[in-house]
Formats: sequence, structure tokens, C-alpha cells
Amino acid sequence: MTDKKEKKPAVAKIIDGKEVANAVKESIKREVAGMIDKGGNGPHLAAVLVGDDPASQTYVAAKEKAAHAVGMMSSTYRYPADMSEQELLEVIEYLNNDNEIDGFIVQLPLPAHIDESKVINSISPDKDVDGFHPVNVGNLVLGKPGFISATPYGIMELLNYYNIETEGKHCVVLGRSNIVGRPVSILMSQKSGANATVTVCHSRTKNLPSITKKADILIAAIGQPEFVTADMVKKGAVVIDVGIHRIPDDTKQKGYRLTGDVVFDEVSKKASWITPVPGGVGPMTIAMLLKNTLQAHKNKLEAGKKA
Ligand code: GUN
Repeated sequence: MTDKKEKKPAVAKIIDGKEVANAVKESIKREVAGMIDKGGNGPHLAAVLVGDDPASQTYVAAKEKAAHAVGMMSSTYRYPADMSEQELLEVIEYLNNDNEIDGFIVQLPLPAHIDESKVINSISPDKDVDGFHPVNVGNLVLGKPGFISATPYGIMELLNYYNIETEGKHCVVLGRSNIVGRPVSILMSQKSGANATVTVCHSRTKNLPSITKKADILIAAIGQPEFVTADMVKKGAVVIDVGIHRIPDDTKQKGYRLTGDVVFDEVSKKASWITPVPGGVGPMTIAMLLKNTLQAHKNKLEAGKKA
């Protein structure tokens, strides 16, 4: 027998995206109910779906269901995959001018013959609740009010909900995509945001583990399953996993398991906080889309008062 105390592996606290998303949706629901009680219509979200990609259909159905659950109106405009770019631009023009619609999204990806950036650029920034339009991206960079895209916005909400200290911390972002890596790196560095010191790493970064090991907050958004291993993480780090991947697994009834960009089992023994996959960042995206839609509605009411 030895009297040495056995060292228990530290287990990170879970950043529960479902709980936070539910809290955000509950708060939206209360606000929408208040608007309707006062005789208003409440917000109206629209989605444009081109083609029959099963994943896109699932996402759009989930957005519609979530909108209804918080008392919002929701409309989905469905078109065949061979719709022309011009026809889609005309639909967008119609939605831009329809005062009943507060915000809308064009579900991506679009068929190859349609220019995605031309489509995004044609959405009115006031209705761009995805936050993809260059005006909204520019406002985010400048720290001005605008729509922040759902995933980076959701990450900020998660950190905020759990009162995770960010000021002066070293945040390492893995990935520089327009949708996640770049915007979250900007929000994390902003004085009005997380006020952290930020390093952005990507596919050409040298000695990546030497950088990730210095992170107090590590945001993994590289789109590679189980890329981040425990030896790449500092003890006590906060780890945000943005990835979601299906890995074939015969032991599962569905024939696959879901995993993120992080090896959860080993990293969770070293981190202080961690987002699971599923149930971490994922549930936040729809909640933040609804938050943007509510904001679009409030902006419209405010603009109507001034007019
Ligand atoms: N496809 C996958 N995620 C998204 C999203 O957040 N918005 C849109 N418009 N399309 C997507």
C-alpha cells in the first residue's frame, strides 16, 4: 500500500449548447409573445431552398420548426435544382421588397451553375439574417451593429453564458473560413467582444501544436475529424469544437457516429471547459438565426416609427 494520493484525471466541464440554445429560444419566445399580445405580427423568417439536397432540406425544416416553436412566422420557398441564377435573383428581389418578411436565408450550397457570392450580394443587408452579406461582414469587422453569422455568434453566446473569462487570454483559432474562423477570430479580439489576444492558424501554419499548446481558449474550426489531440492542448484550456463529422461505425445502429474536430475523450481530461459533439456549438446556430430574425423585426419596427 502506498499513501500517495491517486491523481484523478481532470474532467472538463461541459459547455452545453442545448441548454444555452434553449435559454436563447425561451427568451426570444417571451419577447415574440409580448409583441403579439400588443397586437403585432411578430417576426417572419423566410428560407429559400434550391434543389433537393437532403442535408439542406433537413436544415431548412429544422429552422422552420424552431421559428414556429418561438412563435415566429416562417415560409420556405422551394425551387428545382435547374432554376436559373436570374430566376433566383428575382426571388431575392421579391423578398427584399416584401415588407411582411423580416429576414431570409438562401440555403447553401447552391447548384454549381449559380454564383453563390452574386446571390449573397443581392440580399438586402437589412434582411440578411445569416450575416453573410459583405455589409454585415464589414460591420462585424468595424464592431458596428449588424447581423453576425450564426456559428461565431453562437460561440460568443456560449462563452458569455458560462461567464468564461476571455479578456487578455490567448485564443487560438484553427481555421480561417469566411463563415467561422475569420469572423470568430475578429469577435474574440474586439474590445467590445471578448478582448482576447488572437492567433489564427490554417493549413500552412508551421509547428501547429506548439501554438495550440499556448492557447487558453482553443477554437477548432478546420473541418477535419478528430484533428485536435490531447498533446496539442494546454492543461486547463477552454476548447470549442465547431466540427461535426459522420464516421462510419458498425457498432452503432445508424452505422455511423458523430465526432468533431477534437478527440473529445482525451481532450476533455485536460481541458477546463469543452463543447461536446453533438450538443455543443451545433444547437446554437438555429437559436442565433432566430435571434437575428427578431432583431431584424425590431429594426423594421424602429425604422417604421422614424419614417
Ligand atoms: N448551409 C449550411 N449552413 C448554412 C447556414 O448557416 N446558412 C445558409 N444559408 N446555408 C447553410
